[in-house]
Amino acid sequence: MRKGFDGNLRWSDVTPKAQWMNRRSLMLGAGAAMVAGSAAAKIPTVPSAFSTGAAPNTLEEITSYNNFYEFGTGKEDPMRNSQAFEPDPWSVKIDGLVDKPGSYDLVDILGRVTLEERIYRFRCVEAWSMVVPWVGFELATLLNRVGVRPGAKFVAFETVVRPEQMPGQRSPLLDWPYREGLRLDEAMHPLTILATGLYGEPMPKQNGAPIRLVVPWKYGFKSIKSIVRISLTDTMPVTTWNTMNRREYGFYSNVNPEVDHPRWSQTSERRVGGGLFAKRVDTQMFNGYGEQVAHLYAGQDLAKDY
Ligand code: MTE
Repeated sequence: MRKGFDGNLRWSDVTPKAQWMNRRSLMLGAGAAMVAGSAAAKIPTVPSAFSTGAAPNTLEEITSYNNFYEFGTGKEDPMRNSQAFEPDPWSVKIDGLVDKPGSYDLVDILGRVTLEERIYRFRCVEAWSMVVPWVGFELATLLNRVGVRPGAKFVAFETVVRPEQMPGQRSPLLDWPYREGLRLDEAMHPLTILATGLYGEPMPKQNGAPIRLVVPWKYGFKSIKSIVRISLTDTMPVTTWNTMNRREYGFYSNVNPEVDHPRWSQTSERRVGGGLFAKRVDTQMFNGYGEQVAHLYAGQDLAKDY
């Protein structure tokens, strides 16, 4: 075991569990992996006051209804097509306006943070939602550790590019790599986390293994998966969906029932797993996190500057 590292989080040790998350291997009856998965201890986490009391979606719902275009555009494609993806070993390059730029090994990052369970509402711009019990830590912890230099105003993120392991990247569906960004105050907000697991297990491949962003008051596309680069900049970063269609996908993209997407009304949402006849739920401003985040946008016209 590596020095200073909690063995529960070693990605090479938990590969069978990642497979276990995959419904297909479940259906194929991957017996040994299932035993390994069920016998192993959960990742140690501390609870968070930011968690919602709402009932989480099931593991199966969270891992079989995904958006992860690197593995295809269908909701089950990420679950089906991510077997060859190898999230171990992993490192994250941190550069730009920071005191200590460099390539950071994920194992070392994880050895130095306290992992929390954060049960968050998650709202996609396609008007579906879930409740997910993430395992993660505040992005601010990492940014403070590498030292944000004066002059930094934004944080840019990039997903890994590996067409050999990510079949969706073999076609120009998007301009790879997938890119996202936050304003620095959004990135430093305590609700913003880097998630490395869910349901007490390492992050399933289809959900963005081994490390992804989660910003619960914004539409899901801001929560970029499988991050390999974090850059601090003084200019608003170029982001994938905003570049594709500026009118449909704003840079901020805060959940806002009053600003409709040209293709999806945002006034209500369908909770995944609710069944065919489930009543739609009213969408809340900032996905219900307004008390914590509304002050970030004081004086900003969110209908125009969305
Ligand atoms: N990150 C990458 N790299 N590629 C993607 O296609 N899809 C986004 C976001 N992050 C996406 C991504 C969208 S549209 C949503 S709604 C969420 O991931 C879905 O996260 P989930 O599959 O864990 O629910």
